[in-house]
Amino acid sequence: MHNQSLLIAQSPPLEGTAELTGAKNAVLVIMASLILTKGKSILSNVPFSSDVRNVMTLLQNLGAEVKYAPDLQTLCVDTSPINDWRVNHEMMKRMRASILVMGPLLARFGQAEIALPGGCVIGSRPIDLHLRNFVKMGVRIIESGDTLSASVTRFNAKKIILDYPSVGATENIMMLATCAPGTTKIINAALEPEVLDLIKVLKKMGAHIQVVAPATIEIEGVKELKPIEHAIINDRLEAGALLLATAITGGNIVLPQAPAFAMDVFLQKLQQMGHKVEVGDNDVGVTLRATKDPKAVSFKTGPHPQFPTDLQAPMMAAQCVADGTSVIEETVFENRLMHVRELQKMGAEVKVIHDQKVVVTGVEQLYGTSVIASDIRASCALMLAGLVAQGTTIMTGVHHWQRGYDALEKKLKILGAQVKMVDGQNFSVQDKRLFFGYESSVKD
Ligand code: UD1
Repeated sequence: MHNQSLLIAQSPPLEGTAELTGAKNAVLVIMASLILTKGKSILSNVPFSSDVRNVMTLLQNLGAEVKYAPDLQTLCVDTSPINDWRVNHEMMKRMRASILVMGPLLARFGQAEIALPGGCVIGSRPIDLHLRNFVKMGVRIIESGDTLSASVTRFNAKKIILDYPSVGATENIMMLATCAPGTTKIINAALEPEVLDLIKVLKKMGAHIQVVAPATIEIEGVKELKPIEHAIINDRLEAGALLLATAITGGNIVLPQAPAFAMDVFLQKLQQMGHKVEVGDNDVGVTLRATKDPKAVSFKTGPHPQFPTDLQAPMMAAQCVADGTSVIEETVFENRLMHVRELQKMGAEVKVIHDQKVVVTGVEQLYGTSVIASDIRASCALMLAGLVAQGTTIMTGVHHWQRGYDALEKKLKILGAQVKMVDGQNFSVQDKRLFFGYESSVKD
């Protein structure tokens, strides 16, 4: 629903324990991978975010039977009835991740028809690495208008060298290669934790896949893949959001399921800010006790295991109220700083050096105002800033928040955050008081 707003009031230090949901970036591609099989698969730990609902509809449109059990967070997908390889244009426009069905459809039907994808507006986000390497594997692609028709009758093997370790291209090529005769090697592959979760799933299906250091994935094609059961890896980005919400408000949190093994650089940055971070046994679970005087840290995003681009905006929000100066460089996307203007509106001191680099000087106080979320992770940054801003922050563009997170605002609320999802977009000071009560620190 596009006509909602998030109201965020200055909140006390967050305190408590929170459960995580499965990773959006793993579940979307794993749902797409089920097209490779014929039969009933069961996925658990599935977040019910709007992107997940979109892929459910996409699979249903292709003919699959899809059922979600909200109490169990379990998704059952029967892919036997899939009989179409043409993806509804509206679906593709709604979500860039729809491109991830192209490899599986080609593997199953030898053809696929898709439209050029939509999604978050964070840079030009081309799909050339997907398409160019499909062609290298023997796929013919005809582009007419914004429709791509792809078909393959004979595969050519197969050393695929990625110019950049693209997550989506790695996943798409790997899924097609699972059923292509011979061995495919993807050199300079992305090895994000979500890619590794997909590899786990494909192996359960019966695929022959090996990861070879430093960053090669070798796939030996098999004739057939079988349905699976799988619990989706916990979301390191939701964990990051909860840790930062606790850090920025000066609280304490325990995340027993946090995949610390996939969060090293980020957790180290939190420690360098002065927060106390403890990791559980086997690198799972994180406890954070926030310092009241966080120090600014600089960081630069990059492919895993470097600092994740999806935590750049949220981490920037934390730097806005830290002591000192932080240099932040975004190297993964060329236009992922749209949150900067909104943070500036709240009183943040952020100087843009160029499209991919900013310098943040921490301020004593941010101030609540009306802000617009431009993408999923920008919405997270604005939420975090809102938690410490004086007064009330009114965030629109909330559909981005809902695309990426499964009711995270409710988890934050349980931890003590003053957050409310409301219908409508225009609120007066009076309304905000009604939402939060007169005791809240509304001073507009
Ligand atoms: C995935 C994640 C997204 C995350 C990103 C990087 C999902 C659903 N989304 O997106 O949350 O921010 O990884 O970790 O898993 N590129 C090209 N040509 C291509 C493909 C990508 O130039 O064909 C460029 C992109 O424009 C971008 C960079 O490569 O600058 C990384 O993109 P990529 O790793 O492909 O991200 P996604 O798979 O789209």
